[in-house]
Amino acid sequence: MSGPREFEGRVVLVTGGGGACIGGPTALRFAQEGASVVICDLHERRNREMAERIRKETGASVLDFHLDIAERGKVEAMLAETEKKLGGVDVLVCNAAENKLGKIVSYEMRDWDRTIDVSLSANFFLARRVLPGMVARKRGNIVNISSVAGWIGNPNEKVMFLASDRRAGFITGEALNVSGGWYMRP
Ligand SMILES: NC(=O)c1ccc[n+]([C@@H]2O[C@H](COP(=O)([O-])OP(=O)(O)OC[C@H]3O[C@@H](n4cnc5c(N)ncnc54)[C@H](O)[C@@H]3O)[C@@H](O)[C@H]2O)c1
Repeated sequence: MSGPREFEGRVVLVTGGGGACIGGPTALRFAQEGASVVICDLHERRNREMAERIRKETGASVLDFHLDIAERGKVEAMLAETEKKLGGVDVLVCNAAENKLGKIVSYEMRDWDRTIDVSLSANFFLARRVLPGMVARKRGNIVNISSVAGWIGNPNEKVMFLASDRRAGFITGEALNVSGGWYMRP
């Protein structure tokens, strides 16, 4: 690869980065653009293999964490280790999500709680934790992967839509708030 790479010297965290569809390829692409990459995933083997692949194909520094993003203690430990080894997170990609299908009347409350914990609250926790560093460095991006599930009116995917939609709207709005109106770029 020749010429300057867009994310040289930046640190990018992708949740659900072991995923073969969006998370893993996103992390790989950032690494190809010069970023140091952090991936975390519930699926230990896939996450480890994706990290090995990214290291091998790009030579980038890659940290991989096997964790549930709803477990705040583990997320905090991941961020502390990341800051120590690579520096503060410049780009946060909120990609991991869980989606239990079902109609409202038969939807288990534990499934509601889990979907909101993973697909909404965990991302808010991450965003509020990395934002101060972005503001201090005057650069940063938070990318919230959303879903069209609700727009197309699938009655079985309302919870996922709610979590995903709020993640995109609310967290992005808050980031703009604390950034004092800057247009933040990496
Ligand atoms: N693929 C699509 O067509 C599509 C469509 C609409 C929205 N999306 C959104 O894109 C994102 C990624 O979807 P995908 O299709 O690549 O899914 P995927 O299942 O391939 O990857 C998601 C990864 O997240 C991980 N994960 C799930 N829960 C986790 C948790 N609690 N903690 C840590 N890791 C966890 C999974 O193990 C998996 O590796 C999701 O937010 C999804 O809602 C995808």
